[in-house]
Amino acid sequence: MKKNIVVAIDGPAGVGKSSVSFQVAKHFDYMLIDTGAMYRSVALKAFNLGIENNTPEILELSKSLNFSFKIENNKNMVFVNGEDVSTLIRTETVSKMATDVAKNGDLRKILVEKQQRLADNCSVVMEGRDIGTVVFPNAEVKIFLSATPEVKAERRFKELKEKDPTVTFKSIFEAMVLRDKQDSERAESPLKKADDALEIDTSDKTIDEVISNVLSVINSRIS
Ligand code: DC
Repeated sequence: MKKNIVVAIDGPAGVGKSSVSFQVAKHFDYMLIDTGAMYRSVALKAFNLGIENNTPEILELSKSLNFSFKIENNKNMVFVNGEDVSTLIRTETVSKMATDVAKNGDLRKILVEKQQRLADNCSVVMEGRDIGTVVFPNAEVKIFLSATPEVKAERRFKELKEKDPTVTFKSIFEAMVLRDKQDSERAESPLKKADDALEIDTSDKTIDEVISNVLSVINSRIS
């Protein structure tokens, strides 16, 4: 029987994780699991139900959520208990709430277990912050993407400016530095490179260069 492969892609916001993970998953026909979308979905559902973070209710809510992912029309769609939440989870409000939710250690345990179950029967590309360190410390391939804060904020600025012309580079830069700081300094599973992960600094690379770099690393590890 063919062995299932786990490709772990970690790194902060704005390093191109989603684009790289998407192309890698498509190339190898692996399932793409966006773990940030899972924290975002819990934040969204808790907000809609009026449930506070750090309560027993948010843990019960997390347990009750069933996540699935499907690539459709060149997009990774996220479903929670069958409902398509792909667009609803991408607002700035949900981003901020997700960062808080992600500090809750008991909640993380529940989502980590669900992430591991999602990879039970297939090969996956899993993107997040703690995949190579906590979720799959024995992943066949571990990639850690990085970039300077200025480059990351510039990329996010270009993306958001099209949707909202009132956004400023400064506000994006400050929000991003704060979120990275919170993700890296939290007590539970902070964002950090696994010792055996390959770090790729994407600052001076095009997305295509990063993708081809990652594809050749994976090919050399799994062949
Ligand atoms: O990647 P993202 O922006 O969609 O992630 C949303 C939040 O969840 C962000 O604050 C980082 C956090 N997160 C995490 O702590 N662990 C993961 N495996 C994925 C995301």
